[in-house]
Amino acid sequence: MKAVEVNNLRKSYPKKIPLPFRKVEWVEAVKGISFEVKRGELFGLLGPNGAGKTTTIKMLTTLLEPSGGSAKILGLDLIRDAREIRKRINLVAEGERTLYWRLSAYENLKYFARIYYVPKSEMEKRIEELLKLVGLWERRNDLVMSYSRGMKQRLAIAKALINDPEVLFLDEPTLGLDVQSALFVRDFVKRLVKEEGKTVLLTTHYMVEAEELCDRIAIIDHGRIIALDTPEGLKKLVKDEETVEIAVREFNPALLEKSPWKLAVVQSTEERTVLRGSVDEEDLPKLVEWLVKNQVKVVSVERKEPTLEDVFIKLTGRGLRD
Ligand SMILES: Nc1ncnc2c1ncn2[C@@H]1O[C@H](COP(=O)(O)OP(=O)(O)OP(=O)(O)O)[C@@H](O)[C@H]1O
Ligand SMILES: [Mg+2]
Repeated sequence: MKAVEVNNLRKSYPKKIPLPFRKVEWVEAVKGISFEVKRGELFGLLGPNGAGKTTTIKMLTTLLEPSGGSAKILGLDLIRDAREIRKRINLVAEGERTLYWRLSAYENLKYFARIYYVPKSEMEKRIEELLKLVGLWERRNDLVMSYSRGMKQRLAIAKALINDPEVLFLDEPTLGLDVQSALFVRDFVKRLVKEEGKTVLLTTHYMVEAEELCDRIAIIDHGRIIALDTPEGLKKLVKDEETVEIAVREFNPALLEKSPWKLAVVQSTEERTVLRGSVDEEDLPKLVEWLVKNQVKVVSVERKEPTLEDVFIKLTGRGLRD
């Protein structure tokens, strides 16, 4: 049995049109996606802002009703068996507002333990274990309001483990965290899968995170999965071509729409802009010529090892950060 099976799942949101026009328009946030996550797998949904990642996670955790398609979690039907599914999964949602800031860490976990009917005899032991695991035991009696962003996220993860879920969903688990906290969270998630045998489905728009953590990655864009493979498999999509980074000055991004090559802006300051894409050896002089002809000042041209971002640029003609 698979941990997660998604079959042509869709979601449309009504778009509110101001009165007096009562017409309802629909935004198709998820446009029929299908994928499977094996048990014990660390699976990532990678995509830019608005790709449909949170919408997908909300549907798979029974918080949002799909507009179409179907899904099974641990062999259970997403709609029919929602109650049973909720007992066996958990979610670390996007943002900070999933904890009670006026309660201490300990009180938060006690509250959520009760919601999940964790037996009284086990509750104290489990809370202690979890708080120690995320390194918050010493701070257990402090109000969450006094916690740093990184501490809040560690507590949110402990909270999501309170019912010992078989499948854990994480929506952008390191968004807005400092480097050290992000490292902690990544390492922790890896250990959950490797040592505890949990299944994890996470979303991210950090390529490095997806590449480092995930066994397999689905790249999602505009509500569709445009590629799905292991990080190595995905990178093979650009291996033949050569990845190149071109630093330029006096660059107008509108020019890219006319470019015969799939290039994306990966860095932009007042001083200079860095373009990136896959360009054949023979094509490179032509590209530089084309830029010069369009009044762009080329500062440097550098060969790079392909990353997942290059896969995304090649598939969509855009950068993940656009
Ligand atoms: N409640 C809502 N009502 C209407 N439209 C929505 C709603 N929630 C999301 N959308 C739209 O659905 C699309 C997908 O949004 P979603 O939040 O799933 O993307 P995401 O991949 O999680 O993006 P991000 O990286 O910014 O978190 C977007 O176009 C968004 O504007
Ligand atoms: Mg999101």
